[in-house]
Amino acid sequence: MAITEAGIERSLREGLRDIRKPLSKAAHAPGYVYSSPEVLALEKEKMFMQDWLFMAREEELAKPGDFMTFRVLGEPLVLTRDANGKLNAFANVCVHRGVEVAIGTGNTKEFMCPYHGWLYDLEGRLVGAPYMKEAEGFDPKNCRLAPLRVGVWRRCVFVTFNPDAPPLETQLAQFEQDFAFLHPEKCKLSKRLVWEFECNWKLLSENAMDMYHVGTLHRSTFGAGTSVDDAKISLYPRGGMRIDYQSVPMTPGNQPLFGKLPWLEHEPVSFATMGFMQPNTHMVARSDQVRMLTGWPLGPGRCQVVMYSLFPEEYFERPGFAEKAEVYHQYLTRVLNEDREMVKSLQHAMEIKTYVPGRLATLEKAIHHVLNGALDRLFEERPAR
Ligand code: FES
Ligand SMILES: [Fe+2]
Repeated sequence: MAITEAGIERSLREGLRDIRKPLSKAAHAPGYVYSSPEVLALEKEKMFMQDWLFMAREEELAKPGDFMTFRVLGEPLVLTRDANGKLNAFANVCVHRGVEVAIGTGNTKEFMCPYHGWLYDLEGRLVGAPYMKEAEGFDPKNCRLAPLRVGVWRRCVFVTFNPDAPPLETQLAQFEQDFAFLHPEKCKLSKRLVWEFECNWKLLSENAMDMYHVGTLHRSTFGAGTSVDDAKISLYPRGGMRIDYQSVPMTPGNQPLFGKLPWLEHEPVSFATMGFMQPNTHMVARSDQVRMLTGWPLGPGRCQVVMYSLFPEEYFERPGFAEKAEVYHQYLTRVLNEDREMVKSLQHAMEIKTYVPGRLATLEKAIHHVLNGALDRLFEERPAR
């Protein structure tokens, strides 16, 4: 592909001088980083096709036969729980002519390709192929949906398209060290919230770690209750980060509706932390809730956000749980809607002639680090900084 040619990579790299400088000297990245199909193609090859990706919670695939389908930058993927209770992942690509064999989510015993009827079991094996007897040397037993590696971290299901990726534990080592105490495995998914935004996926991801905009854009929701002055921003190798700060529960009155998480009883109500792991997984917690978030490119200027709203499993039995949880979900949607027009305007700026990237604030330290972590990977060079 042309994008890997040295000349094109070099010309993309040349505009990056200012974002590659140390924070106190840096300016934001040029617009094409957020708008060009070439950069997105590099992100697919060098990031999304390399890393372990957080796709689902185990409880979304609780029963044998449960399945979920996705497209990761176009690449179709199906997750299944087979009859033995094992999780599997496959390329959702028929081995006949490539049609997606599984559609949507649901529970099934097998998948029948909707085009010519080839049949696959939950382990991805081809178990039926009509009118194929005369195809010389063709044995369905030798055919299967291409398997992908699956791993589980604290009830979070990860998949990688990369057969040579280091073990999931390696990629997750920092997350485990930082966020084991949030106990996502003691939580259950209350709701998978899915939104689309008219911006590049990195703008949305940066927005989610942007401490600088909270007091202004979100002043009428949680901004007034958030203190960023003493935020502790920790930076990790390979574009990872963690921010510890003070904020409020994400409810209309900014009060916890269930009390503090049992394992965070010793923390103040204002406890807030967040983290990021390449390529696209965010952890966010308050004293009363844990949320995880992934951002998925749908094109250079469009993305999808999946937010996993998690509460302790024991809460689900309490009377009125669903109604209270919904209050959180409505509030989160309201907050994200405050961001919606802003990220759209940001994306617009990435595509116009008059935009000149401006200097960064200290509060944008995490954004600077995470983006440089991605740029290191895209352009395979680490300038001195
Ligand atoms: S493409 Fe699937 S059976 Fe032909
Ligand atoms: Fe925001």
